[in-house]
Amino acid sequence: DKKIIIAIDGFSSTGKSTVAKQLAKTLGYIYVDTGAMYRSVTLYAMRNKIIDQTHFDVDRLINSLPDIHIKFEVNQTTRLAEVLLNEENVEKEIRNLSVSRHVSQVAAISEVRKKLVEQQQLMGRDKGVVMDGRDIGTVVFPDAELKLFMTATAKDRAERRYKELIKRGDQVTYEDVLKNVVNRDHIDSTRKDSPLKKAEGAIEIDNSNLTLEDQFNQILTLSRSTI
Ligand code: C5P
Repeated sequence: DKKIIIAIDGFSSTGKSTVAKQLAKTLGYIYVDTGAMYRSVTLYAMRNKIIDQTHFDVDRLINSLPDIHIKFEVNQTTRLAEVLLNEENVEKEIRNLSVSRHVSQVAAISEVRKKLVEQQQLMGRDKGVVMDGRDIGTVVFPDAELKLFMTATAKDRAERRYKELIKRGDQVTYEDVLKNVVNRDHIDSTRKDSPLKKAEGAIEIDNSNLTLEDQFNQILTLSRSTI
């Protein structure tokens, strides 16, 4: 079998990462969650008071980029990759709604994108990778052998994210989560650098009315026929 790159893009909380993880496991591929990288940079900015509710010092963030190191390590129990920010495992913290509230502003900065995109391209150098994000099929790997674009209604997506957060014990309301999902989608699809859009040649999958299993099988079939 030849190894390929599978690029999965789409709006927030469309279940990209669930499918991507399952797919990587089944195919024996590496899974790269690029959203975790943007979230980690955002967490760094928040911890260092570069960004808060009222201000965002863009120049300071750009100057700090050489001090921000992002890596993935495999959790030996779950076998899933978890993100490290300067050697600290921040996998749980980056999923907080407070990080979600700032991440799209951080991800709109070209210098941030340039740094992370270079790293993502290196991770896909040997192929055999499933990568999810917003610009994987358009910018990171425009030549990916298989490109998917996932969509679902904002309501379905907010419900999914809300359940995830509640399950973890976070104190959030459905309305706050819905607002965040809609707001991020707006910023992500209207920014100048690498806006979220369906890549040329991408197959659109609307999973509003698909069970997880149906969706997975559909994507696995597509992958196998490409490999
Ligand atoms: O995928 P996730 O929802 O964790 O991504 C968080 C945010 O990171 C997105 O809303 C977007 O602003 C940014 N992002 C991006 N490009 C990617 C992945 C994520 O701009 N490839």
